Amino acid sequence: MLEKKTEIPKHIAIIMDGNGRWAKEKNKPRVFGHKAGAEALRKVVTHSKKIGVKYLTVYAFSTENWKRSKEEVEALMLLFKAYISSERKDLLKNKIRFVVSGRKEGVSESLLKAIDSLEEATSKDYEMTLNIAFNYGGRSEIVDAFNKAMATGEKVTEENFSKFLYNQFPDPELLIRTSGEFRISNFLLWQIAYSEIYVTDVYWPDFSEKDLDKAIENFNKRERRFGGRLNAE
Ligand code: FPP
Repeated sequence: MLEKKTEIPKHIAIIMDGNGRWAKEKNKPRVFGHKAGAEALRKVVTHSKKIGVKYLTVYAFSTENWKRSKEEVEALMLLFKAYISSERKDLLKNKIRFVVSGRKEGVSESLLKAIDSLEEATSKDYEMTLNIAFNYGGRSEIVDAFNKAMATGEKVTEENFSKFLYNQFPDPELLIRTSGEFRISNFLLWQIAYSEIYVTDVYWPDFSEKDLDKAIENFNKRERRFGGRLNAE
């Protein structure tokens, strides 16, 4: 349980890592870990909404993940499609907007259609945004933004660049990575310039509401300076 005075980050981003290792420890196939990962996501989304998070961005499939076995890639695609249909009712009920960020190339027509349909259905009346980074790469996003800007002929600046990115959400204050790896893995490269990073050893399928609260409590202890100094010596 979070204390009343706890500051809830407006935008939390999560690298959901460790599904494969979680499954391996249980002598199960990797896909079993991803399925459990989808369950963990469901709980974290509901909890985030409850405590007042406004934007939750999760890394579900990177542009590099195509290099995994055909079997695993297919399973991840199917799992995402299943997630879209199983979550529709709850997302609408809980006023959660569903958004997908990433490139369309390589993603099947039927999955793109399912994404479009849920994005449209949840776009009107919402209190939180769930942004799923799917077929997403931070460098691709920056390159795509740059090309978009070039096409408009507009000169880019640090201030206007974000309008060419996939979405114009506030930058995440908190970036969480599960399973103990200290890497960014090409996630939100532009947006995390000043994010606080929290790494936990917990594998993603075991990541619970309590673990999210712990990350937020830890975030509350940080002194955020954005490059400046609060107490000049
Ligand atoms: C990283 O674990 C996880 C992924 C590459 C996929 C994330 C997908 C989910 C959490 C499934 C649910 C998502 C949706 C949107 C349905 P890993 O496989 O790299 O684990 P490892 O490092 O232990 O091998």
